[in-house]
Amino acid sequence: MAESSTSVPPPPDRYDLVRLANGSFSLRSARLGETFHPVIGPVAEAEALYVQQLDLIDRFAKSEGPFVIWDVGLGAAANALTVLKALSAGSGHVEIVSFDHDLDPLRAGYLYRGSLGYFGGFESAVETLLSEGLARFECGGATVLWKLWLGDFPTLLASPSASAWPKPSVILFDAFSPARNPDMWSLPLFTQLFRALDPEKPCALPTYSRSTLMRVTLLLAGFFVGAGEATGEKEETTIAANSLELVASPLGAPWLKRVKNSTSAEPLAGGGYVQRRLSLENWLRLSAHPQFASLIPGSFD
Ligand SMILES: C[S@@+](CC[C@H](N)C(=O)[O-])C[C@H]1O[C@@H](n2cnc3c(N)ncnc32)[C@H](O)[C@@H]1O
Repeated sequence: MAESSTSVPPPPDRYDLVRLANGSFSLRSARLGETFHPVIGPVAEAEALYVQQLDLIDRFAKSEGPFVIWDVGLGAAANALTVLKALSAGSGHVEIVSFDHDLDPLRAGYLYRGSLGYFGGFESAVETLLSEGLARFECGGATVLWKLWLGDFPTLLASPSASAWPKPSVILFDAFSPARNPDMWSLPLFTQLFRALDPEKPCALPTYSRSTLMRVTLLLAGFFVGAGEATGEKEETTIAANSLELVASPLGAPWLKRVKNSTSAEPLAGGGYVQRRLSLENWLRLSAHPQFASLIPGSFD
């Protein structure tokens, strides 16, 4: 299924507050028809996907130097603030770099902060970030530097300034779905993202998507990839990392076999959402990935 692109700009987005079945609240983009955290809500999802799965408090305690987090798709800051709240139990310096091309979700989230609940204690940090693009504050035992990059993430990442960004230990990757937001899920973008990491600094990138297309994309970009923890919303998510040690359940032969049969495995090239079988060229690259080096040839043919 291809999404057509048109020269007519989309209407400005509106972000509504929606109540989920479990009683928690989330924001919803009226233009895309997508709820930010649709089933278990923003805080529960961020806790499952990042705080618990990555054992974040322990990793923070063991980090040498600032603990750097890239927050791709700041949105209404649920991920950023849930992670900061968790890290407030530790001590040390946190640098969080948030990216978004639109501050309206954060403005809307702040407006609805009473219902969303997770802004408590961070009000002045959020106001400062919105007005100055940078906030410094203390959060429990942690000192925090929170910086905002406003703009199209693929363009920012390709810009010369990207080489000066502090190298992350964690990436919170939370764009809209690949079907609605294809430019944020393309192979060129993830290849650039992988190259922007410090190979000497282990970095994990959990994401809610478990689609074959996404997992192939992450592997071809250079990441090691495994099944991620359930979030309550999905029985399985995905975790990618530049170090195999950070991936508890790496994808193996059974998954590779499924790729061959999938009708939606070819990575997005950056020109819209197109679902296709994996090309022979990419199949050969995929099966040569170091993650699959120990597999017996023929076991996934
Ligand atoms: C699902 S929302 C993120 C929710 C957010 N992480 C939170 O915790 O509230 C996706 C976000 O990605 C942002 N986004 C989408 N495409 C983008 C792009 N090309 N560059 C930068 N940000 C983008 C949207 O503006 C939106 O705020």
